[in-house]
Amino acid sequence: PIESRIKDLIKKMSLNEKILQLNQFTFGINNNPNNIGEEITSLPPGIGSVIYFTGDPVLRNKLQKKAIEESRLGIPILFGFDIIHGLRTVYPISLGQASSWNLELVKLNCAAAAKESVLSGIDWTFSPMVDVARDPRWGRVAEGYGEDPYVNAMFGVASIKGYQGENLSDPFSIAACLKHYVGYGLSEGGRDYTYTNISRQSLWETYMLPYEAGVKAGAATLMSGFNDISGVPATINQYTLTDVLKKRWGHDGFVVSDWNAIEQLLNQGVAKDKKEAGLKAFNAGVEMDMKDGIYLKYFKELVEEKKISVAKIDEAVSRILRVKFRLGLFDEPYTIIVDEKDRYLQKQSKSLAQNLAEESMVLLKNKNTILPLRPSVKKIALIGPIANDKENIMGAWSFNGKATDVESIFEGFKSEFGSGTQINYAKGCDFDGTDESKFSEAITAANNSDVVVVCLGELKTWSGENASRSSIALPAIQEKLVMELKKTGKPIILILSSGRPLELVRLEPLADAIIEIWQPGIAGGTPLAGIVSGRINPSGKLAITFPLTTGQIPTYYSMRQSSRPFDKQGHYQDIPTEPLYWFGHGLSYTNFEYGKAKLSTTKLKKGEKLKVSVVVKNSGEFSGKETVLWYVSDPVATISRPIKELKFFEKKEIKGGEEYEFIFEIDPVRDLSYPDENGNQILEAGLFYIHVNDQKIEIELL
Ligand code: IFM
Repeated sequence: PIESRIKDLIKKMSLNEKILQLNQFTFGINNNPNNIGEEITSLPPGIGSVIYFTGDPVLRNKLQKKAIEESRLGIPILFGFDIIHGLRTVYPISLGQASSWNLELVKLNCAAAAKESVLSGIDWTFSPMVDVARDPRWGRVAEGYGEDPYVNAMFGVASIKGYQGENLSDPFSIAACLKHYVGYGLSEGGRDYTYTNISRQSLWETYMLPYEAGVKAGAATLMSGFNDISGVPATINQYTLTDVLKKRWGHDGFVVSDWNAIEQLLNQGVAKDKKEAGLKAFNAGVEMDMKDGIYLKYFKELVEEKKISVAKIDEAVSRILRVKFRLGLFDEPYTIIVDEKDRYLQKQSKSLAQNLAEESMVLLKNKNTILPLRPSVKKIALIGPIANDKENIMGAWSFNGKATDVESIFEGFKSEFGSGTQINYAKGCDFDGTDESKFSEAITAANNSDVVVVCLGELKTWSGENASRSSIALPAIQEKLVMELKKTGKPIILILSSGRPLELVRLEPLADAIIEIWQPGIAGGTPLAGIVSGRINPSGKLAITFPLTTGQIPTYYSMRQSSRPFDKQGHYQDIPTEPLYWFGHGLSYTNFEYGKAKLSTTKLKKGEKLKVSVVVKNSGEFSGKETVLWYVSDPVATISRPIKELKFFEKKEIKGGEEYEFIFEIDPVRDLSYPDENGNQILEAGLFYIHVNDQKIEIELL
C-alpha cells in the first residue's frame, strides 16, 4: 500500500510541490526564541524537511500543523537532527562505543536515544557515521567506530537496528542516516573537507564495506560526504550514489547532501555556478538539498530547460515520501507531548550510558598491577583539567547535553571511595596555555597522597567537524604537569579523556597505569572510579591504534605488507616502527588463558564451512569480560591482501576459574574472499591463516 499511496500522491503534486519536498531548511539554529516567530513564517509550506535544532516537541507540532493545514496536499515535514551519541542522555562517543565491542549495548543506547528524539520532535538522525578513519588528526575520528571496516560495519548495523527498531513505523523508531558516503575518513593530512585520493580497490575493500552492510540492514537514508573522491566529489559521484548505491545495492530510501556541500562544489572546482552544482548533485543521485536552497531556486528552470526530467524528480520525491510513509508520518504526524521529566534521562537510559561508558574504557598499561588500588591506599590525589570537568567529557556533538546532568570523575571518586578515603583534588592546569600557577597546588595534593591520579585530555571542541589537530599530543602544559608530579615519587595513574588516540611517547614512561576513557558522556565518573577501586574489571579494547608519535600516522593493523616486512626492517631512522598500542589492545585485572585452537577440518571446499574454536579460561579471581578477535590472512593472492583482517569478534563474561569456548564459523565466500576494483568478490584457492590471540593457524581452501 505504501507504493500505491506514493504514486497517488505524486499524481496530485505540482512541479513546485515536488521540488519543495527535495529541500531541507534549518530551524532554530541560533536557538533564539526571538527569531522563531520569523522562522515559522518564513518556512515555506510544503518543505520536505528541516534540521530541527530546537528539540521542542510543542513547537514541532505547531510547525507540523502549519505544514499540514497550510499546504495544499498536507505532506508532513521530516524533522532531522544530529543525534550522534545520545540527545540529552549523552552516551560515550562512537569511538569509545566501538572500544566496548558490545554490539547489544550500542543497539540499546541507540534505541534509547531514538525514544528521547521522538519525544523531542525528531524523526531522523544523521547517524551512524561509518567512515573508516586511520588518521587520528582528523577531528571526526571521534564520531566513527575506528580504523577497521568490519568493526564500522558491525557497529553501524547495531546502531541502525537500535534507531530504526523492528519497524520504522514503531512509535519510538527514528530513521537512521549512514554518513558520510563515502571515503571522507581519508581526508588528506587529517584536515577536514579535503581531497581524498582513493583507488577503486580501496574504495571497495575498505570504505564501502560498512555502507553496504548498513544498506543491507535497512538504513533509511544516507548523507553524501564533503570529500572529493579522486577528482569526483562525493556529492556528485554518479558511481557511488547511483551505480552502486541505488542500482547495485537497491537502496530505495534517499540521499541528503551535507551542509552547504552543493554550493561548495564551486570551491571544489567542478561547477561554474550554483545552478550547475545543483544539477550535477541531483543527477548524480542526491535527492535532498541540505540547507543550500539551490534545488528550490533552480529546479523549475532546469526542468523547463529539460536538463532535469520530471521522471527523475518524481523518482526522487518518491524516495523521500517512502521514508515519510515508512516512518508513519502521514498517519501520525504529531509528536506525543510528555512531561519534561518523562522525556529525557530516564533511569534505564542513564544506566545504559553508565554500562557503555564502563565497557568502553580501556586499561592501556598496568605496571606491577598497581591497579586496582590496594585497600591500604587511603589518600588519592585527583589532579588535572578533566578531573572535575562536566562539559568536555560529553564530547563533540552533544548540543542537548547539559553539564548539570553529568557526573564528573571527582564526583564518581567521592561516591566510590566514600568517607574512609581522602580525595585531594587540584586542577593542576588548564587544557592548554602556559599558566603553571596551579602546579604548586597539585604538587601539594600529590605529596599529601599515596597515589596520584592525573586526568588529562582534550576539549570537546578539538573533535568533531572542522576540528582537526596537526599533532595528536596533549598540549605541553599537560605533559609538564605530569613531569612535575612524577618528581614527588608517588605512583602515577594516568586517565585520558580524548576524541582520538593520543601521542603518549613522553607520558607513557612516567605512568604506572594508563586508562583511556574517551569522552564518556554523562555517566563516566562512577565506572572509572569503579575500575580504579577494583569493583569493575576493565574490558575495553582499542578500536583504533595509538601511534607512538604523530609522525607514524597512518598506522593501522591491517596495513599491506611492506616489501621489506614490517617486523624485520625499521621504517624510520628516528623512531621505532611499532605503534605504542595496537588496535585490539586492552588489559584486564584477570588472566585469560587461551587454549590451542581447534579446527573442524584443515582443508575445505568452496561450498563448505569450517569451525575454528578456542577455549579461554579465566585463570584469575576476578570475573571478567573477554573479547576474542578472529582475523584471517591470505599470504598469496592476485591482489595483495592486508597483513591480516578482522572477520569476527565475540565478547563474553567468564567468571574466575571458569572457561568458555569461543567459536568462529568460517564461510569461505564471506570470510576468505575479497573484492576487486569493481566490487566483484574473488575467492582464490590456496593457503590461508586464521589468527586468534598469538596463534596462527593454517587452513587450505581446495
Ligand atoms: O550531520 C552533519 C554532518 O555530519 C556534518 N555537517 C553538518 C551535518 C548536519 O548538521
